[in-house]
Amino acid sequence: MTNYDFHTPINREQTNSVKWGLRKDLFGSDEVLPMWVADMEFMPPNEVIEALEKRIQHKIYGYTYASASTTNAITEWQKKRHNWEISKNAVLFSLGVVPSIAAAILAFTEKGDKVMLQSPVYTPFFSMIEGNERVVVNSPLILKDDQYEIDFVDFEERLKEGVKLFLLCNPHNPGGRVWTKDELKKIGDLCCQYNCYILSDEIHADLVYTPHQHLPIASLDQRFKEITITCIAPTKTFNLAGLQASAVLIENEQLRKLFSDVQAKQGFFTLSTFGLTGMEAAYRYGDTWLNELLHYLEENRRISIQFIEENLPDIKAIEPEGTYLLWLDCRKLQWSDDEIQERLLKKGKVALEPGNKYGSGGEGFVRLNFACSQTVLLDGLNRVKHAFSNLS
Ligand SMILES: Cc1ncc(COP(=O)(O)O)c(C=O)c1O
Repeated sequence: MTNYDFHTPINREQTNSVKWGLRKDLFGSDEVLPMWVADMEFMPPNEVIEALEKRIQHKIYGYTYASASTTNAITEWQKKRHNWEISKNAVLFSLGVVPSIAAAILAFTEKGDKVMLQSPVYTPFFSMIEGNERVVVNSPLILKDDQYEIDFVDFEERLKEGVKLFLLCNPHNPGGRVWTKDELKKIGDLCCQYNCYILSDEIHADLVYTPHQHLPIASLDQRFKEITITCIAPTKTFNLAGLQASAVLIENEQLRKLFSDVQAKQGFFTLSTFGLTGMEAAYRYGDTWLNELLHYLEENRRISIQFIEENLPDIKAIEPEGTYLLWLDCRKLQWSDDEIQERLLKKGKVALEPGNKYGSGGEGFVRLNFACSQTVLLDGLNRVKHAFSNLS
């Protein structure tokens, strides 16, 4: 018995949706089914919609501050969902995780400094480092038995080069790994040993499938807490990306000051009225909805992987432990990323993310977003099948 409807497709035309509205500009046709950018085809919890409607009805939308009640909703959510007790002082706000990555790079490194990531990884990790004139140091993940692993020997070698900041993606986009306690402890220990700060991007933290469990790295050890900047947001979890609201959790007072000084210099003052309202309502009332969403997504994950196994023997789906993103290994086809895209867009009429966008190790892969109704999902999977069927 479910309270929420994830089944009925919702028309998003005429809403300036990046995913739907830019299809012609980006892919040359309005006919492609968009399964690329990471937002979902679902309405958020009713409580969020009602809170926003109530706020709209007030009809005055002046500057709005983040109240203690919003901060409490964030800290209570972390405690409830991730067993992480954070102090209220640790909470800062930000328009998004990507702006926070940029601010952290500016706050904790100088021009020319080394910032480390693990490819294949979310594209803005690269662009925020390079755009801010820092140097990307890559410790690529290794794909072993169809799951990504960290090469800790390489990780340590890279840290020895004098890396100032490490961008951790947990859960990892695009591979879907939810890093274990052992892995996170090794990461934390090495970063402490080599005096490297950690920015932990935990935007996908709430979207994790049993038996896996998200562990905030800062919650694992007092020492890790002192060097970590954690970015969280209700935007992926509750499909609120357009509200542009996120939080940055920094327990170390000195680091928090450096970070908020950068935000101040950039003129960032507060979130929008709707960002704050939506964020608080989501974290306060979103539990039941999220539990149901996770069941639906888990079923979508199963359907997608089974479909690929049964219909596309040359493609291997990497089962995500978290996120609603399916990373598909198409390397057996021996096509370039351009050829894969051409096939998907022209023949299959479906838009997936090309793997080479995620840096080295991503070539020959595509990323499929399965956060949609099962009707749309099957349509999309059949399009992928058609794209890769023999050319007639
Ligand atoms: C790992 C990761 N970080 C950040 C973002 C985007 O964050 P924001 O919209 O808050 O800037 C995404 C969106 O897909 C993501 O996958």
